[in-house]
Amino acid sequence: MAHGKGIMFLFYSTLLVSFILTTSLKTLDSEQELKDSGFGQPPPRHGLKLLVWYVRNCVDNNMMALCHPTEGEYGFHKYGNYQLLLPVIKDERQYGYYTVGNLNTRHSKDLPVEVRKYYNHSDPQSNMDRVLVKYNNNNRRIEEIYASAHYRPEETYKIGPNLVASLRKPATFIIRERW
Ligand SMILES: *[C@@H]1O[C@H](CO)[C@@H](O)[C@H](O)[C@H]1NC(C)=O
Repeated sequence: MAHGKGIMFLFYSTLLVSFILTTSLKTLDSEQELKDSGFGQPPPRHGLKLLVWYVRNCVDNNMMALCHPTEGEYGFHKYGNYQLLLPVIKDERQYGYYTVGNLNTRHSKDLPVEVRKYYNHSDPQSNMDRVLVKYNNNNRRIEEIYASAHYRPEETYKIGPNLVASLRKPATFIIRERW
């Protein structure tokens, strides 16, 4: 009986921890917020360029996927979310998380030079950033975009719709400065 209670305690603490983790993800919804977060910059960090490349090339205005995460393009692969970094997916047939940005994979060679150019095998900083997406298998829509510095909860952000729209524009403030 005591054993059972221990298990229930573990179960509820895990739920609690996952609740805290998943509800504490910050949303970045303007270029200023992205800049202030420090995500993906300065070089050799590659996250900012990765995020801009993703938004401009891999989703259309209706958030339909133009790159195909399920097919491994650009090194995309399934993200298991075992640490509950992102909200738990209930319907795993319809939705899945995918991650891109590891420069130490074969298909990452297809990423643009701008994204890859500071990669240094001996410098973990140069390969710590990722873009994660929640993909809808039924309609090929990207439901959410996240940016993460090596899957650390305190350095993982949801990218809001206004920021996505802003990054799409050709000459944005942050890009002029950093791209
Ligand atoms: C790569 O990173 C290592 C370790 O930080 C550093 O010593 C080396 O100078 C870097 N190489 C280049 C080409 O930047």
